[in-house]
Amino acid sequence: PRHLLDFQGWSRERLTALLDNADTMNQVLDRPVRKVPALQGLTVCTAFFENSTRTRVSFELAARRMSADVVSFAAGASSLSKGESLRDTVEVLTAYKVDAYVVRHHAAGAAHLVARYSGKPVVNAGDGRRAHPTQALLDAYTVRQEFGTLEGLTVAIVGDVRHSRVARSNAELLPKLGARVVLCGPATLLPEGLAHLPGVTLTTDPREAVRGAHAVMALRLQQERMDAGYLASLQEYADTYQVNESLMREAESGAIALHPGPMNRDVEISSDVADGPRSRIVRQVENGQAVRMSVLYHLLVGRE
Ligand code: CP
Repeated sequence: PRHLLDFQGWSRERLTALLDNADTMNQVLDRPVRKVPALQGLTVCTAFFENSTRTRVSFELAARRMSADVVSFAAGASSLSKGESLRDTVEVLTAYKVDAYVVRHHAAGAAHLVARYSGKPVVNAGDGRRAHPTQALLDAYTVRQEFGTLEGLTVAIVGDVRHSRVARSNAELLPKLGARVVLCGPATLLPEGLAHLPGVTLTTDPREAVRGAHAVMALRLQQERMDAGYLASLQEYADTYQVNESLMREAESGAIALHPGPMNRDVEISSDVADGPRSRIVRQVENGQAVRMSVLYHLLVGRE
């Protein structure tokens, strides 16, 4: 595929090559001079119609580390507020010779539209609750870095699965790479529709979910996407589903704790786990930059 919108059409071999190439990018990031000329002369536009810290900053740094020019399109400060359409906006940016887009939008499918309107490679940086493929890639990369492989591993994802694009993308990606995924949350936050995916199981019991897991990922309650009725109270949620030391003890002895961020500490994850020896949350953030370098390189200049 020319785009990374989700993992449809992405073979295990190409996904593995992306992760392998992220190893090379991490070596670049470990050098005193963290810059290579790989994307010199190309322009990447980061178009964020929804807030972000990690994804936007790491994509912009990723592009700059490879010598691309970066234009950061802030939707809130643009002429969209005067009624200009997404299509006309993309046509304007493309007329300025943008070579690739990184798009975050609250609407599912928005990145597909940018791909169609621009005719340029597009990376989906999160579209509503549908997909966030580079987050899943950096999660997979972080687990692989820890265990040397994803084959035969189990990753438990605990929390607000219903509203999570991160859970969907991981449920799509990890089984392609040989891992099993267990999705867990209260029944109201656990969409049955995901149970048909190969290598994915659902449970409302957090202890059952983490038993045998090599990685346990906590998900934030995404109240910005939540209608009334999904959640009784934060305290009741935390009492049962918080990823804390007691829950981590039920996982495999060397299990690691993950969180895509942003965290609501002591709600979906306890601070002692988030800051403790099992946590690989900072590692996820670090790896995000290398994985996004690998994705931009692959879409803009990479060859089979
Ligand atoms: N995990 C993630 O996408 O974080 P941001 O919203 O800060 O980009």
